[in-house]
Amino acid sequence: METAPPNLRDVFSPPRPVILEIGSGMGETTLSMATGAPDTGIVAVDVHTPGIGALLAGAERESLGNIRVCIGDAVELMDRLDPGSLAGIRAYFPDPWPKVRHHKRRLVQPAFVHRAAVLLAPGGTLHLATDIAHYADQMLEVCAAEPMLDVGQGLVDRPQWRPITGYERRGVAAGRMSKDLIATRC
Ligand SMILES: C[S@@+](CC[C@H](N)C(=O)[O-])C[C@H]1O[C@@H](n2cnc3c(N)ncnc32)[C@H](O)[C@@H]1O
Repeated sequence: METAPPNLRDVFSPPRPVILEIGSGMGETTLSMATGAPDTGIVAVDVHTPGIGALLAGAERESLGNIRVCIGDAVELMDRLDPGSLAGIRAYFPDPWPKVRHHKRRLVQPAFVHRAAVLLAPGGTLHLATDIAHYADQMLEVCAAEPMLDVGQGLVDRPQWRPITGYERRGVAAGRMSKDLIATRC
């Protein structure tokens, strides 16, 4: 984390557009999306060490050279990065914190969304997904209030090109429905 350069393009050779994936969990989605976009660099950040280990093992097994990982708090990492330096940021199924008294712990808050918008290059996207209806509404409300973002179609069903994540699969089994939000940096 401390050694991450302010422009994450510089951790790839040759440099390439970078997507920051926040909360990569066990990394299945990261691996799948990295395989489909070899010219894009994926930097996955998570506080969960076993998940990061599984992701690194998968990247080695599949000989993927376009994945880097950070262990630690995504917000701290984002504070170190250069404005306009990311092609995309995604946070699939950030911790839901379902109890009302814990909502303030949710990742997607105005300050986070503003920082994400500042880090995106024009045309870059902030892609969020959740299977908690109240959190989906919160994501839409906060992103729509950020002047640097255009929320496009708002909350939508999972686009076919986004793989179902490990966490999402458990939600589907429990009868929950996912929503995606793709906001574009103006
Ligand atoms: C509910 S899981 C979803 C994992 C994965 N995206 C998926 O859909 O299967 C949320 C993940 O976010 C990570 N996380 C929570 N807060 C974080 C933070 N501040 N910085 C980085 N990762 C965080 C957790 O460790 C966990 O792996």
